[in-house]
Amino acid sequence: MTKQLNEVVVIDSVRTAFGKAGEKGIFWKTRADDLSVLLLKALIKRNPNIKPEFIEDVIWGATNQIKEQGGTIGRMISMLANWGWEIPGCSIDRMCAGGLTAVGFAISYIASNMADCLIAGGVEHMGHLPMGFMRDPHPRAEKVLGDASAFNMGMTAENIHDRFPEITKKMADEYAVECQSKADKAIKAGKMKDMIIPIEAELANGSKITADKDQQPRPGTSMESLASLKTPFKENGRVTAGNASGLNDGAAAALIMSRTRAKELGLKPVMRWIASAVASVDPRVMGTAPVPATQKVLAKAGLTMDDIDIIELNEAFAVQALHNLKHLGLEPNDPRVNKWGGSIAYGHPLASSGPRLMAFLQGLFKENPDAGYGLTTMCVGRGQGYSIIWENLL
Ligand SMILES: CC(C)(COP(=O)(O)OP(=O)(O)OC[C@H]1O[C@@H](n2cnc3c(N)ncnc32)[C@H](O)[C@@H]1OP(=O)(O)O)[C@@H](O)C(=O)NCCC(=O)NCCS
Repeated sequence: MTKQLNEVVVIDSVRTAFGKAGEKGIFWKTRADDLSVLLLKALIKRNPNIKPEFIEDVIWGATNQIKEQGGTIGRMISMLANWGWEIPGCSIDRMCAGGLTAVGFAISYIASNMADCLIAGGVEHMGHLPMGFMRDPHPRAEKVLGDASAFNMGMTAENIHDRFPEITKKMADEYAVECQSKADKAIKAGKMKDMIIPIEAELANGSKITADKDQQPRPGTSMESLASLKTPFKENGRVTAGNASGLNDGAAAALIMSRTRAKELGLKPVMRWIASAVASVDPRVMGTAPVPATQKVLAKAGLTMDDIDIIELNEAFAVQALHNLKHLGLEPNDPRVNKWGGSIAYGHPLASSGPRLMAFLQGLFKENPDAGYGLTTMCVGRGQGYSIIWENLL
C-alpha cells in the first residue's frame, strides 16, 4: 500500500528570554519545567482556535535529563500546565539539537498520519544542570570519540582552528563583533518582542523581575574588547568567551500541525516543512557537521544554497560558523545568514536553540514575504549536524 505524506506546517514558534547560567542569571531561581510550561500555555493563548485537548503529544528536547529536566519532562509539563492527564509527552536527547530533533519527530508523526497537532520544543537550564553533569562515560568513550578533546566543546572548536588554519582568531573575532552588532540592531528594532514570552522571575537576591529580555548580548563588543580575552580551553588558543556561545538557561517551542487540520481550524500557517537531514562527522570537530547535514537536506529537497533566502545557523562557536559558511560556499558576511544575530550574542541553552532558530525564521519570513525557503541548521556534540528546510507561507 503506498501512502502520500501529509503536508506539515508550523503555526507558531515562541521562546523564553535567554538567561546567563549561574547565580547572576535571571533564571537562577526558575525551574526548567516552569520555563517549558510557560511556552505550552503561550502557544495555546496566542492561537485561540487550538485547545489543549487537540495536542496529541508534547515532544521535548533536553540534554541533561535528570533532576528538573528528568522524569520525562515532555509528559510532565502538560500536566503542570493543568491540561489534565490526556496529553502524552516524551523527552528527546540529541544534545544541542534536542529541540530540533523533537521538531523532526513531530514532523514525522504528522507526515505519516500518526498525529495532526503537536507541540515540540526544548529546554536547557545550564545553571542548574551544567554540561556533563553527573555523566558517567564508558571507559572506551574517549577512544571511540577519537580522543579526550571530543568531550570538551571548546576544544572541538580549537580543533577546527587547528585543522583549518585559514580560519584565524581575527576572523572569529570579526564574526563575533558583527553578530553582536546585528543582534543589537534587531533587539533595538523590537524584533524579539513577538517571540519572547515574558515570565516573572526571582533573582538570587530575592528581587522580582519580568524576564522579557535576553541577558547575554553584549552591545558595543569591539575587536579591541575581544583581543584581550583569555582562551579558556587551551593555552594560546583562539576560542574565547567573546567568540563562543555562552552558558545559558532558556526554552523554545513550536506548534506543528498537518496542513489539513490547520485549514479546518482556520489557522494561517507560517511555514511548511520541505525536508530534514541528520549527518555525522569526527566528534573532535563536531562543529563541521552542519555542512554534510545541509548538503544532504538540499539534495533531498532538490534545491541548492542559491535557493535558500534565509539561513538560521546556530553559532556554537564563531570558528564553527565560519567553517560551515565556507564549506557551503557562502561568504562570512552573507546577508542571508543570521540577519538578527545568532547564539554568540543571544546565548545557546543547548536543546532550546533549534526551536529558537525557528522563532527567528518565523519573524524573518513575516518581514520578508518574498523569501521562498529558509534553513535551520546546527551542530551537535559527539559530531552531528541537523538541518531542516522550510517554505515561507506568509
Ligand atoms: C567560553 C566560556 C568558557 C566562557 O565562560 P565564562 O568565563 O563564564 O564567560 P563570561 O561570560 O563570564 O565571560 C568571561 C569574561 O569574558 C568577558 N567577555 C565575554 N564576552 C565578551 C564580549 N563580547 N566582549 C567583551 N568581553 C567579553 C566577560 O566580561 C568576562 O570577563 P569578566 O569576568 O572580567 O567580566 C563559556 O561561555 C563556554 O563554555 N562556552 C561554550 C559553551 C558550549 O560549549 N556550548 C555547547 C556548544 S556545542
